[in-house]
Amino acid sequence: MRTLRSFLGAVALASLALTQFACTGEGTRGGFSETPDGGDTCAAASDNDAVRLALAPACQGCHTNGNKPFFSSLAAFESGLVYNEKYVKRGDPENSLLVQMLKGAAPGSYPQMPPGQPYDELVASGRVTMTIAQVEAWIRDLPAPPEALETPSPEEFRVRRLSAEEMVVSLMDQLGLTLEDFVSTSNPDWRNRAYVVNWNKFFVWPGDWSPGISGEYVSDSRTGERFEALGGGNSLLYRKKDVSFGPSAAQALVQMSQAWCGRAVDKANNKAVLRYVVLADTSTKNPDAVQKNLRYLYLRMLGQPATDAEAQALYEQVYLPLEAQSTRLGWIGVCSALIRHPLWITY
Ligand code: HEC
Repeated sequence: MRTLRSFLGAVALASLALTQFACTGEGTRGGFSETPDGGDTCAAASDNDAVRLALAPACQGCHTNGNKPFFSSLAAFESGLVYNEKYVKRGDPENSLLVQMLKGAAPGSYPQMPPGQPYDELVASGRVTMTIAQVEAWIRDLPAPPEALETPSPEEFRVRRLSAEEMVVSLMDQLGLTLEDFVSTSNPDWRNRAYVVNWNKFFVWPGDWSPGISGEYVSDSRTGERFEALGGGNSLLYRKKDVSFGPSAAQALVQMSQAWCGRAVDKANNKAVLRYVVLADTSTKNPDAVQKNLRYLYLRMLGQPATDAEAQALYEQVYLPLEAQSTRLGWIGVCSALIRHPLWITY
């Protein structure tokens, strides 16, 4: 938790520094290259880095995260753009999509980068200093990619926490739950009438998405409060969403994961959690089914297969001790442990 918080803090600092100095460096180091005397400079580490820093004012606003984070670091720039044949053909600027994009003449859906503003205008206004001709010269003399490009670097790992909205929506989906499992929507006119959230179901829902607003509207105010504890915003209350993952979010997620996994296990004909087992299957009676379901659940919740060590730890440390009380508790425990896994919480 601590690492994630300080990491997010570093990102916030970095973006602050970027807007002030229009200088971009390795994100995790706060946006600067550090010099031996301890001072901060924007000095480029190489020719490629110089191009990255020169283009950054025109591009980084949209390409620091998301699916094309070319400007989040030198490594991202080199592996995603410079040495990606699709965009840069070494020695051949005319046929490089990057140059065509700067000229506003690229084929495909995105003829111009930045969209809607000719790059030459940015040069003319002094927002960027590197001309298209200089970019072309750089591509003409571009050296072969460094070998290190192939080596994954843990420093380049970029994640953010799931937003509260993403948590609520994806968890309902993963657990096979719907709104009806929490509130009564059976009356066709339910949006316009008073409804009371079913108690003890740990409904978590954004205040902004309240199912209906009318004079009769009766709700469980804890529903929105829990959502805010998870880090969600509330526009009616001028509450911004929290991009860090603090103790209150962790606490809300612990309770929510246990309550919702319980509902998913108890819901009739719901195969989301109990896909390969029924509650009568125990580790002694049907060990294969238990193992299969455990691995299935890991994959479903975290999007990647469990290693043997992880599957074993989950089985021995979570499932077995709880199974001693009941198989129901065993599966609720496994399900909610996976929801608190760093891979689940981050994106
Ligand atoms: C205002 C936002 C914005 C700015 C500024 C911007 N881009 Fe983009 N860029 C986009 C969007 C949106 C896409 C397409 C969606 C995607 O693939 O992420 C895109 C896609 C790209 C692609 C991939 C195109 C493809 O067909 O695969 C490249 C390369 C690119 N941008 C380079 C740049 C460069 C270089 C700059 C600066 C000169 C820049 N962009 C500035 C928004 C922007």
